[in-house]
Amino acid sequence: MKRKLEGQIALVTGASSGIGAGVAKALAAEGAAVVINYSSNPDKAELVVNEIKQKGGDAFAFKADVSNEQEVVDMFQQTIQHFGTVDILVNNAGLQQDSKFHEMTVAQWNRVLGINLTGQFLCAREAIKEFLRRGIVPDKSKSAGKIICMSSVHEVIPWAGHANYSASKGGVMMLMKTIAQEYAPMKIRVNSIGPGAIRTPINHAAWQTPEAYTGLLKLIPAKRIGEAEDIGGAAVWLSSDDSEYVNGITLFVDGGMLLYPGFEDNG
Ligand code: BGC
Repeated sequence: MKRKLEGQIALVTGASSGIGAGVAKALAAEGAAVVINYSSNPDKAELVVNEIKQKGGDAFAFKADVSNEQEVVDMFQQTIQHFGTVDILVNNAGLQQDSKFHEMTVAQWNRVLGINLTGQFLCAREAIKEFLRRGIVPDKSKSAGKIICMSSVHEVIPWAGHANYSASKGGVMMLMKTIAQEYAPMKIRVNSIGPGAIRTPINHAAWQTPEAYTGLLKLIPAKRIGEAEDIGGAAVWLSSDDSEYVNGITLFVDGGMLLYPGFEDNG
């Protein structure tokens, strides 16, 4: 059986660890060649590249700060030079810089908005330029290109102590929907994944100790933390023609975190 993403080129930002690494491996397993974008850790990025290559896939690592316009432009140029085009963008790079709101510095605000929101704008803009230039290649996909924005349950759940992060994810939601509407007529599909708590470095404090993990499970009706593979499966679906008629949604992958778990016990 033909793999779902055979012959397609994917660029995954923030792919040297966590959800990004899981998504990159899942796309590669379905036949996509993958650019592993990273910002600071070349060794970890190379590990992901090697794992993909060992399984017969194709990948290379590229360092770029997604909040820097020139670095993003260069990354897309290099990708297109190396692989010929780009079919799938996974706008995954993101970070937290947590602080009580009244103590939050402009630097903390700007850094989180810069990576989580401006970074998604810059990468989506470059991807869409290439999708419009190339158009649909029917042998590869019914769409001219696909963008997946990594959002969060916090695009809808307010999160005390994380105003910069929640604001960035609320922004991602409207960025995603707006470009989904703008480019759907050109057969470019833009959607988000909204992960809940996934076992990655970003939230290690929430699952590292048994006490923390027990507390976390109170927020998750499915009674387990998510794994990067849970997000990988969703990313494959949103990238493939199986979701060809899906435009502008957030697919929450959260074990039910959005289901008001406080009411589990009758409120
Ligand atoms: C955050 C994690 C958090 C999860 C659920 C994610 O977007 O990055 O730190 O565990 O949301 O609250």
